[in-house]
Amino acid sequence: MAARIESLAAIEAACWRTLEQAAATRGHPWRAMALATTDGEAGHARTVILREVDVDERRLVFYTDVRSAKVGQIAAHPIGTVLAWSAELGWQLRLRCRLTVDHGGLAASSRWARLKLTPAAQDYLSPLAPGTVLGSDLPPAAGPSRETFALLEAQVEAVDWLELHAEGHRRAAFDALGARWLQP
Ligand SMILES: Cc1cc2nc3c(=O)[nH]c(=O)nc-3n(C[C@H](O)[C@H](O)[C@H](O)COP(=O)(O)O)c2cc1C
Repeated sequence: MAARIESLAAIEAACWRTLEQAAATRGHPWRAMALATTDGEAGHARTVILREVDVDERRLVFYTDVRSAKVGQIAAHPIGTVLAWSAELGWQLRLRCRLTVDHGGLAASSRWARLKLTPAAQDYLSPLAPGTVLGSDLPPAAGPSRETFALLEAQVEAVDWLELHAEGHRRAAFDALGARWLQP
C-alpha cells in the first residue's frame, strides 16, 4: 500500500499534479470527468474529457459543441461542479467552478486550428445539434456553415477531496477560506 500523503498542502498539490497528468494521459481515470450544470430547476450531468489544466490559474479546459444544451445552461447559470474518481488512488475530487464558454474567440480559434486537422474535428462539424431528435429522414449531407467547436473553461473555486482508505477515510476542503480537514 502506498504511503499516505500527510499534509493538507501536499494533498492539494497532489490533486493538481494528478489533474495535469490526467489531461495528458489517455485512459487516466480523471480524464473523463462528470460535469454537472443547472438550468435553474434541475441538475444535468454528463461526461467530458479534460483537455488542459492550468495549475497556477486553477483552471480546467474542456471542448464542446456550442449548440449543446450545457452551453445554454452555462450562459444562464455560469456555475457547475466537476467530479472525478480514481479507484487506483482511492480519491474522489469535486471541483466547484465558474464556467465560461468561448466560441470563435482567440482561445477557441487557436485550439480549433490544431483540431481541424485531425479526425476529431468531425465531432464539431455535424449539421445537427447534439440532442436533435432524429426522424426517419436522412440528416442533411452538408455540415454547418461554420464549425461549432467551443472551449469550455472551468475556473475552480473550491476543491473537495475525499480519500477512501483501509486505515480510515479522509476528506479535505480547499477554497477561499483556506485548507481544512472535514469529516468524511
Ligand atoms: C467518454 C465520453 C467523453 C465525452 N467527452 C465529451 C467532451 O469532451 N465534450 C462534450 O461536450 N461532450 C462529451 N461527451 C458527450 C457528453 O457526455 C454529452 O452526451 C454531450 O456533450 C451532450 O450533453 P448536453 O446535452 O448536456 O450538453 C462525452 C461522452 C462520453 C461518453
